[in-house]
Amino acid sequence: MSLAKEIEKRRTFGIISHPDAGKTTLTEKLLLFGGAIQKAGAVKSNKIDMHARSDWMEIEKQRGISVATSVMAFEYEGSKINLLDTPGHQDFAEDTYRTLTAVDSVIMVIDCVKGVEIQTEKLMEVCRMRNTPVISFINKLDREGRDPYDLLDDIEGKLGINVHPLSWPIGMGKDFRGVYSLYDKSLRLFKAGGQQLHEEAFKFADINSPELEKYVGESYAAQLREDVEMLDDLYGPLDVEAYLNGDVAPVFFGSAVNNFGVKELLDTFLKISPAPKSRFLDETKITPEHKEFTGFVFKIHANMDPKHRNRIAFLRICSGKFERGSNYYHTRQEKKFRISQATAFMAQDKETVDEAYPGDIIGLYDTGNFKIGDTLTEGEKGMYRGIPSFSPEIFREVINKDAMKTKQLEKGLNQLMDEGVAQLFNFELGSRKAVGVVGQLQFEVIQYRLKNEYGATVDFAPMQLYKACWISSNDQKKLNEFISSKQRHIARDKDNKLVFMAESKAWLQMVQDNFPDIEFHFTSEF
Ligand code: G4P
Repeated sequence: MSLAKEIEKRRTFGIISHPDAGKTTLTEKLLLFGGAIQKAGAVKSNKIDMHARSDWMEIEKQRGISVATSVMAFEYEGSKINLLDTPGHQDFAEDTYRTLTAVDSVIMVIDCVKGVEIQTEKLMEVCRMRNTPVISFINKLDREGRDPYDLLDDIEGKLGINVHPLSWPIGMGKDFRGVYSLYDKSLRLFKAGGQQLHEEAFKFADINSPELEKYVGESYAAQLREDVEMLDDLYGPLDVEAYLNGDVAPVFFGSAVNNFGVKELLDTFLKISPAPKSRFLDETKITPEHKEFTGFVFKIHANMDPKHRNRIAFLRICSGKFERGSNYYHTRQEKKFRISQATAFMAQDKETVDEAYPGDIIGLYDTGNFKIGDTLTEGEKGMYRGIPSFSPEIFREVINKDAMKTKQLEKGLNQLMDEGVAQLFNFELGSRKAVGVVGQLQFEVIQYRLKNEYGATVDFAPMQLYKACWISSNDQKKLNEFISSKQRHIARDKDNKLVFMAESKAWLQMVQDNFPDIEFHFTSEF
């Protein structure tokens, strides 16, 4: 098959949601359609069970599950689908942000009872930064949820994106009758507990057909006709371009656990979602059809066995054809590596992969050569853009409790930071190191892993810090002046970039006012 055909058949996407909205359930149903799994219950949730917090082996085991389900590839109706899982726990949100850099589109699951929740808002911000196309699936219609118009308003208001419903629910909760597809003008009737792979769809040439009453009864038929007329007036046909630009989110309604509305979602997704897109290697736009292989690492997962410090680097292929056994150029280290071990992730299994194409995710066996953001090419120089670090929320100073193990601590910290477990900021003055995280649980993971894998013992001391701001200026002299006047608050991130460590919101505001020539950025990519 030609490279162009291989690209055209690929769809690489992520499912995002607030925990408990139904991401795992939806994933499982999608895999059932793809024949990638045979029965329900086969997909394990990657949620970290907080009851297991004190039991670190248990948490490690759960991380093991999340690596197994990180990428699930399956074939469906001639398409090759690469579904990327994202961590459910908000303390690992940074991992999710990075995973979103490797997808071409997103399906967002929303609980119809709860509406848009906080975690979804944050994830949507990341999608917006990258103009990632989003389809929304409003789930749990078998429960008494909020009014559908209300839910659409909620999405528009909280997520800052225009919506376009492609299906519409008839009733809800115990009176849930089904959904009407505004896209192909068909009716699907709801049956609870449905594990059916084929939803029966009734097509109506005209929604005024008296057939409708037969299926849903008089009052629901009247209500639906009224709704459809209004929705048609309000939204008209879907502007697919606007969806692909990330300006409009098509919305579906259904019930994942009942496998209802899922096939419709999948079929429409395949019709409208983008095939692998172009990306920027430094300033150069690289199309997927670009003959030479290129790709970047967006996730690194440590092996579960502390005695062997090997890891899996997850690489997203951006262009050309990957061939196992080839020598590829590592642009940061400026040398060639022979890639002899590579795996593809097929639902529950890993298997050796000999060839892979743009959109595919492969796992590379790594003994410490890769960092998040690293780029492999056939010789071209440059790095793929788009793996930003965000300012962490909580900062602690690293206190070394065992001076004899300083070397191990350095090594351990560096390797954990390469994996993206947290962010490390080295202060310019003295040898203070601040670790920044999104959630408390990350400190516990770091402490445990430093001890277990590197033999280093650390404590974390509280620090009065509000934000890490990456700084830049068009005026080098002004930047130097700023650095020398704020020396105690200047640090370097993992890439040696300059960071201003602000102690409080008010103080940051004051500094910003006093130094108008300095730009303060809240992500590392600007
Ligand atoms: P997550 O990955 O987004 O965190 O959510 P997950 O799929 O684990 O779903 C969270 C809970 O919501 C599960 O119940 C799941 O069964 C339920 N759920 C998912 N889809 C629907 C739906 O369409 N309708 C209803 N009523 N419930 C749904 P649980 O009790 O936490 O777990 P379980 O023991 O049922 O698996």
